[in-house]
Amino acid sequence: MTAAERTVSTTLLAHDRSNGAALRASMAYMVAGLGSVLLMGLLGLLMRLDQAGMLVISPAWFYRVMTLHGSGMIAAVLLAALGGIAAAVSATTPLSARALWIALFVYLMGNGFVIFATLVGGFGGGWTVLYPLPEHGIVWSLQAALAIYAGYFFVALGLLLFCVHMLFAMARAHGSLAKALAWRFLFSLGRDKRDALPRPAELIAVVIAIDGIAAAAAGLIYLVPLFAQASGVITSVDALFAKNFVLLFGHTMANLSIYITAGLVYAALPAYTGRAWPTTWPVAAAWNLIIPLMLLNYSHHLYADFAQPLGLQLLGEIGSYAVALPSFIVTIIGALALIYRSGMRWTVAPILYALGLWGWVFGGLGALLDATIPVNQVMHNTLWVPAHFHTYFVLGALAFALAYLCFILDDLSDISERRGAPTAAWLYGIGGAGFILMFFVSGANSVPRRFAVHLTEWQVYARMAVPFVLLLALSLAWLSWDLATRFGSAWQATRRPFAGQ
Ligand code: HEM
Repeated sequence: MTAAERTVSTTLLAHDRSNGAALRASMAYMVAGLGSVLLMGLLGLLMRLDQAGMLVISPAWFYRVMTLHGSGMIAAVLLAALGGIAAAVSATTPLSARALWIALFVYLMGNGFVIFATLVGGFGGGWTVLYPLPEHGIVWSLQAALAIYAGYFFVALGLLLFCVHMLFAMARAHGSLAKALAWRFLFSLGRDKRDALPRPAELIAVVIAIDGIAAAAAGLIYLVPLFAQASGVITSVDALFAKNFVLLFGHTMANLSIYITAGLVYAALPAYTGRAWPTTWPVAAAWNLIIPLMLLNYSHHLYADFAQPLGLQLLGEIGSYAVALPSFIVTIIGALALIYRSGMRWTVAPILYALGLWGWVFGGLGALLDATIPVNQVMHNTLWVPAHFHTYFVLGALAFALAYLCFILDDLSDISERRGAPTAAWLYGIGGAGFILMFFVSGANSVPRRFAVHLTEWQVYARMAVPFVLLLALSLAWLSWDLATRFGSAWQATRRPFAGQ
């Protein structure tokens, strides 16, 4: 009996080995993304130790580390998510391995520039690289600012290549973009079932490809004038234009990871519960709605930009609430219904999926509170903000991406997960929850975010967070070891035809 038969329902296996090359490229995305998360996580530990006063680094180094950690984590989680969704749709959609590798190479080149700009060039302006701060660094040069812009340029380009390829592949596989988005079914209120419906993961792949193209385009549109200014072609760039576009790019990139990894729940959870998760009308409606909503809610970053029309601020609040509803109602309730009384075995992937649902709900609620204008006036620029986004990243998107890699290995590897591995997954939940809770408590007590030096009165919160961060690090090392020992066998399996297909 293979590892897959022991832990995964074979009728719902998802990985097509006839296109092993695309599956291998997808797995490379996941390993590169999750490997980077481990390194960036160590930088997070370093910052929390500094804020606790336990290992003091200079403020200049704190901001370099903070910038690399923030931009590196956003890029890394997105990369793992992109790999996961490519693997999930590869069963039914012919993806080109070459296109996937090219996009990966370009994307990683961007990461290289970001590492260079921060660790060598000394750039420490934060992951939002808000214009004109990068060009006026006192402790970094213009070259360092250009290097981080170049990094963002290549990340945007890599994302664009991936999403364009995904969009064309999905449209081709389903006959048209409208069919890939289940529009006939959607607009007939579920009555017209003539077109074969996309699976939920396929539908989500199309949705994120559309928003990914929009995000990458915003990034490229924002960067070109900045390069033109640096080379003397133009004298200045409108600061509000730059802010709108960089946040449309960066915030949407962060959002993409969250929604793509939801696709990974739809793709793998059925295999553990033994129940199918079809594309029902609410699923089609919710995910089609995400297309405009994901692009609107970034404007909650513009609340303090009074020079802009009031409508943009209102859009930020409405968009932030509206984007949460489809995901809350359809994905979370759907997943809980799938799990309820299914007799699912609590191996690593299901535990991480359950933790991820929890993190999604609590992180989402924290985000909604922060997007509410009267609350935002008090809480913004406190550690409440990192608290909410770390919740749905560490306990949401990252947990889902890790779970999906486990699922690939459960499916393909001849080696079963070790007996103690579920303990590591539970420890991940405890470590993550404790670490995040201390961010929330700090924020509720008005401890500011992005402060290298914390007053003695604030240090108590970071001191309480440190043991939880160490537990998180231990659990991640344990899970990574388990995954690494099973990975080689899964990789080899992608080269063999599967008897069951
Ligand atoms: C693995 C454990 C992690 C630890 C210990 C950690 C720790 C930290 C700390 C201490 C800060 C600085 C907070 C401040 O004073 O403003 C921070 C900022 C940040 N973290 Fe994490 N983090 C972790 C995981 C993640 C993940 C998974 C993401 C995913 C996207 C992430 C994204 C960010 C971002 C975007 C910032 C803001 C950077 C900026 O303001 O420029 N972190 N993190």
